Amino acid sequence: MTTPDELDRAVAEIAEAMRRRSDRGVVANYIPELGRVDPGAFGIAVVDANGHVATAGDADTPFSIQSISKVFTLTLALGKIGDRLWNRVGREPSGSAFNSIVQLEHERGIPRNPFINAGAIAVTDAILSGHQPREALGEILRFMQFLSDDPAVSIDEAVAASEQRTGFRNAALANYMKSFGVVENPVDFTLGVYFHHCAIAMSCRQLAMAGRFLAHGGLHPSTGFPVVQPERARRINAVMLTCGHYDGSGEFAYRVGLPGKSGVGGGILAVAPGRASVTVWSPGLDDTGNSHLGRIALEMLTKRLGWSVFG
Ligand code: DON
Repeated sequence: MTTPDELDRAVAEIAEAMRRRSDRGVVANYIPELGRVDPGAFGIAVVDANGHVATAGDADTPFSIQSISKVFTLTLALGKIGDRLWNRVGREPSGSAFNSIVQLEHERGIPRNPFINAGAIAVTDAILSGHQPREALGEILRFMQFLSDDPAVSIDEAVAASEQRTGFRNAALANYMKSFGVVENPVDFTLGVYFHHCAIAMSCRQLAMAGRFLAHGGLHPSTGFPVVQPERARRINAVMLTCGHYDGSGEFAYRVGLPGKSGVGGGILAVAPGRASVTVWSPGLDDTGNSHLGRIALEMLTKRLGWSVFG
């Protein structure tokens, strides 16, 4: 058992070590608004099984959660249509970039997994069916507010608009899937909801709170409310471990040893089952599009505390 003191010390020392490093990766700028973020930022928040929250650095600064939102849309879509979701999206690692187009043709419009962009767009489309875009987006946002115990969680409209103006590749993926009937709704509606949920802004603290249910058998610890059944939490964690870092998933499992999901805003949500929910944020990315220092910080944390799921 890691004591709150040990956790506080580990988190403070890791933030200090990250502050001193000059290798920070490269901030994403293919969504122009994301390129405005300070590359020197670093935050970390860990919520343990007793609800103790250890934070350091810029842990309370909201950042664009981007693809980390895909964990939560996957959870909602499974809640809405159950295992039928797996008819339109696979659950195998892609071995290719998060925005890759090539696999989709070979696999007849069925994306490899729910975390690459194509897969996440198909998942968003499943949430949208039967609703107006505004309702679907409201549901996703309220889910994030509920899970993080914080009604202040909101969407950064400037980031959403920036991606809406420049997201030509995602538009290509969505149109291609539409041609196979994998996307059911008007492409513009599905993309609009997708861009907006990627543009949710949250701090490390808020996101670590939101990830608690995955660390605790599907339970929302503050209310005891089951968000999902234990089996579903286990399976979402499995997909995070195998697919959560795209073509960097193997390296992340090897070095960190936890289910994790990255976003191009530089955040990573990692789950230590039974122990803690962790979020790190450093905006500079490596060449697989994952936070460079975020991964290094998580590697230090799991090594020091013995938290790898592999023993
Ligand atoms: O669709 C996109 O390209 C972004 N909204 C999300 C991509 C992302 O975060 C990939 N993660 N590392």
